[in-house]
Amino acid sequence: MRFAPLAALLPLALFTACKGDLPETERVIAPILTSEQAFDEFTYARPTEARVTHVALDLALDFDSHTVAGTATLDVQAADGVDEVVLDSNGLVISGVTDGAGQALDFTVGESDPEKGEPITVSLPARTGDELQQVVITYASEPGAEALQWLSPEQTAGGEHPFLFSQGQAILNRSWIPTQDSPGIRQTWEARITAPEPLTVVMSGISQGEPEDVGEGRRAFSFAMDNSVPPYLIAMAAGNIEHAELGPRSGVWAEPVTLAAATEELADTEAMIDAAEAIYGPYRWGRYDMIVLPPSFPYGGMENPTLTFLTPTFIAGDRSNTGLVAHELAHSWSGNLVTYASWRDGWLNEGVTSYFESRITEAVFGEKRAEQEYALSYNSLETAVAEAGADNPVTAMRTPEGTSPFDTIGEASYDKGTVFLRTVEHIVGREAFDEFMRSWFDDHAFQPATSEMFLAALREHLVHGDQELEDRLMLDDWVYGTGIPENALAPDPAAFAEVDAAAAAFVDDGTLPLATEWRGWTGAEQQRFLRELPEVMTAPQLTQLNEALGLSGNGNNEVLFLWLHAAMRNQYDPAVPQAAEFLHRVGRNKFVSPLYRAMWETGGWGRPIARRIYATSRPGYHSMTRGSVDAIVGWEEEAPNG
Ligand code: BES
Ligand code: ZN
Repeated sequence: MRFAPLAALLPLALFTACKGDLPETERVIAPILTSEQAFDEFTYARPTEARVTHVALDLALDFDSHTVAGTATLDVQAADGVDEVVLDSNGLVISGVTDGAGQALDFTVGESDPEKGEPITVSLPARTGDELQQVVITYASEPGAEALQWLSPEQTAGGEHPFLFSQGQAILNRSWIPTQDSPGIRQTWEARITAPEPLTVVMSGISQGEPEDVGEGRRAFSFAMDNSVPPYLIAMAAGNIEHAELGPRSGVWAEPVTLAAATEELADTEAMIDAAEAIYGPYRWGRYDMIVLPPSFPYGGMENPTLTFLTPTFIAGDRSNTGLVAHELAHSWSGNLVTYASWRDGWLNEGVTSYFESRITEAVFGEKRAEQEYALSYNSLETAVAEAGADNPVTAMRTPEGTSPFDTIGEASYDKGTVFLRTVEHIVGREAFDEFMRSWFDDHAFQPATSEMFLAALREHLVHGDQELEDRLMLDDWVYGTGIPENALAPDPAAFAEVDAAAAAFVDDGTLPLATEWRGWTGAEQQRFLRELPEVMTAPQLTQLNEALGLSGNGNNEVLFLWLHAAMRNQYDPAVPQAAEFLHRVGRNKFVSPLYRAMWETGGWGRPIARRIYATSRPGYHSMTRGSVDAIVGWEEEAPNG
């Protein structure tokens, strides 16, 4: 029931093309970039000496011990004279390493670094020529593996079955997969995963037929990804989930109690894929499915190929947050098809994606909504630059050496990237820019890239040595410089004219928008209004706002978050129970950390409240979210998590 319809609906040719499990010889091996910009300081791998080209996982999920265990068979390509391969690990428990024929291979596990984990160095057997060699690692993950979140039934929507999901980006997959965990080392992969019934396993690759009964109440699920991907994109989830079709190649997985609402919210998906293809060419991954995860998922969305992972908090009942889907879908080009070689080029994934997201939004929902999103990005860039200081190196799009690979989520990559590309589009014209971007994706499909390569391509295809155009574009200022270059394309002031006037009226003399007017606003407009309000407000003002606009009952979590944030910042007691409920229910770090921070920064009022709420909510949070909040409220971890 669950798998047949997927295959049945695909045109035969497409299905065959992505059926997976290609013979070794037909898999394309992606190049390794050797430029200075491509260097990844967060891997132990030395890919120019020996690199992994393919990963085959055979793993069992154990919901009692919170571990995965089994084997990873790696295809390794080594240069002449190289007799070892270095892999990344973070807490993996290795019980043995052999070659493809079962002969034991020597290996050592190096000293562990808190961020990078530890290297595994495996001696390679003698070989002839440049043939691929197999290395088979028998291992288990630790119960606290950072990429994996094991949820108890109470942490799911249905409340009856456990759930597991992985989150690889940025450098977490080394806690469950022993491979070279670097975005510039692309690998094809396949996997066979067993799980207890009635759980269904899904992965970021193409499902290989019906699950197989393997006895003892367990089933095996098989997947393959024949396009090489950066290893942070290998992802899995397992739970009591069902699938619903959205279009000929798109669908959604969710727990049964969430499936109807998810399907309704995601109804525009197929139109978005069509729009994206019309802009940048074919969607090259076969299926586009999504999975709606339990609320502790620490992000809004994650672009795992063929299977975007989504927070359930995006469901608003009116499709107002589906910009999130446009964003994750856009990564099927920027990020997944062409990927930054090093974490320092975060904007090549996230900035290009945010720009592409706005183009999809424009095509599907119209210019006004796209203009509004651009105004929001521009605003948030201005705020971020003002806060950091315009000459702060963190505001450069190519981030300074040593920047945490998780910090690609900062404004410099998303918002500055969007404003940069919009500015270039404005200067060279949309037609020429679209043609350029299409060739960028075609020329580097399934390959790594750097900032330098992007700028070189722009100069080759668009600037053609025209010095006047070069001066107007200010390319290097954008990518390597700090702050906002002076040629930045300002947003259309009309985008939020009505909303901004309403916010100004409230600030001036307390005039509130009419409830009818407020309800007619889009999610983006409501958010803009709340963001334009003064930072400091009195309790009577907050009560008045809430009563007039029904903020605490708003079904859009983005709006609800802004309300609770304003309330906490202003020490508004009546909102504390709802803040506690929200923080207990939601684990999305974008909401969670700012709320704790707002409480914490009030000092004596909010600190005890924050610690009280955190004490009961922390066990339900993902390790990423815990890491952020621990730092805000000064939490000391008592024992390694399990
Ligand atoms: N790839 C990111 C999430 C990410 C970034 C995870 C860096 C780990 C490290 C994803 O595509 C993303 O940008 N998510 C945003 C969506 C938003 C910009 C629409 C999020 O989760 O809020
Ligand atoms: Zn993204």
